[in-house]
Amino acid sequence: MGDRGIGVGRLGWLALLPLLAAAQLAQDDEGPPLIPRDSLPTPFVRTAPLGVEELAEGFGATQEVFDLGRRLFFDPVLSPRRSVSCASCHQPELGFADNRKLSRGIEGYLTLRNAPSLLNKGLSEKVLWDGRAATLEDQVLMPIENPEEMGLGKAAAVNRLSSDPSYAAEFQKAFGREVDDAALAAALAGFVRGLTVGDSPVDRFRDGDVEALSADEEAGLWIYEGRGRCWRCHNGPNFSDESFHNTGVGVADGAPEPGRFAITGVDGDQGRFRTPGLRMLTKTAPYMHDGSLATLAEVVDFYREGGNANPHLSERMGSIELTDEEAAQLVAFLKAMSR
Ligand code: HEC
Ligand code: HEC
Repeated sequence: MGDRGIGVGRLGWLALLPLLAAAQLAQDDEGPPLIPRDSLPTPFVRTAPLGVEELAEGFGATQEVFDLGRRLFFDPVLSPRRSVSCASCHQPELGFADNRKLSRGIEGYLTLRNAPSLLNKGLSEKVLWDGRAATLEDQVLMPIENPEEMGLGKAAAVNRLSSDPSYAAEFQKAFGREVDDAALAAALAGFVRGLTVGDSPVDRFRDGDVEALSADEEAGLWIYEGRGRCWRCHNGPNFSDESFHNTGVGVADGAPEPGRFAITGVDGDQGRFRTPGLRMLTKTAPYMHDGSLATLAEVVDFYREGGNANPHLSERMGSIELTDEEAAQLVAFLKAMSR
C-alpha cells in the first residue's frame, strides 16, 4: 500500500494509535472475552481513512484510555450475569456488527434494530439510526442501561468495576481518578473512536491510483456517482452525509418505524433514518436498520425500484434504470470498499 496509505505525515501520531493498538491486540490475552482478541483482524484498524484532513476532536484517546476501553468492550462484566459484552453484538470479524437481522441481548431479548458497524464512528457526527444520542459518550452507556441489551445499569457497573482492583488501577492509570460514569463512557468511546478503516482500493483510486479498481469496480463507481445517484446521500470520507432520509425501509413489511420522527416530532422526519457509512459491507450483512435486506444485490435491487413508496419518501429516491450487468458492477464497487 506504500507509505501514503499510512498517512502519518498528514495525520501525525493520531493515525498510528489504532495501528499500535492493533499490534497489541494480538498479544493481550487477559480475561476470557467472548471473542478471542487475536481474532480481531488488523485490517479493521489499519489506518485513518484517506481524504480526511482533520480527525474529529477527541479522536485520539491516549493509549491507556484505548486499552481500558478495549478491555471493557470485550468483557461481559457489564451485564448482570456476565453473559453479554459489547462485542456480542459488535463482533470484530463482522466489521464490529453482527450477522443477525436483530441482535440478542441478555436473556435472549431481541434488539429493536440491526446492529450497525462501529468502524469510523469517530468520524461521524450522528449516532444511532435515529440520531437520539448526542455524542458517542452518551451512546456507549445506553446499552448498559437498556434492560434488553446489557441491563446492568450505570451505578451497578461503576460499583462492579470499582471493586475489581485490576479495573480500579486501570481507571487510575487512564484518568487519574476512580471509576465513575464519565470515565466509563470516555473509555468505551475512546476505544470506538480508535476503530478506523481506510485505504481501500476506492480510497486509492480517488487518490489518483487508476490501477486500484478493476474494470467492473470502476464501472460501478461511475454508476454510483452518475445514474445511481448514491453519492447524493452517501458522500464524504465515510460515505454518509450524516443526515436522515426516508427510503421506505420497513414499509414493504407493513411495519414501518417512525425513525427520526420519534425524536423530533417533526412530520417531515417520518420514517427517516441516518445514512449509514458504506465501509466493510462484505462483513456486515444483513443490511438496513431492520436487517431486512440479506445481500448487497438485494440492496441494489431495492434502489433500482426506487425504494418503497410511502408518503414521506425522500425526493432523492426514484427508480434507476440499470441492466443486470450494471447492477452487478455497482455491487462490485460496494465490495471494493471492504478490501
Ligand atoms: C444486544 C446487542 C448490543 C450490545 C450488547 C451493544 N450494542 Fe451497540 N448497538 C446495538 C444496536 C441494535 C444498535 C443500533 C440501535 C439504534 O440505532 O437504535 C447499536 C448502536 C451502537 C452505536 C451507534 C452506531 C451508529 O452507527 O450510530 C455504538 C457506538 C454502539 N452501539 C456501541 C456499543 C458499545 C460501546 C457497547 C457496549 C457498552 C454496545 N454497543 C453494546 C446492539 C448492541
Ligand atoms: C435519499 C438518500 C439515499 C440515497 C439516494 C441512497 N441511499 Fe443508501 N441509505 C440511505 C439511508 C437513509 C439508509 C438506511 C435506511 C434504513 O435502514 O432505513 C441507506 C442504507 C444503505 C445501505 C445499507 C448499509 C447498512 O450498513 O445497512 C447500502 C449498502 C446503501 N444504502 C447503498 C446505497 C447505494 C448503492 C445507493 C445508490 C444506488 C444508495 N444507497 C442511495 C440513504 C440513501
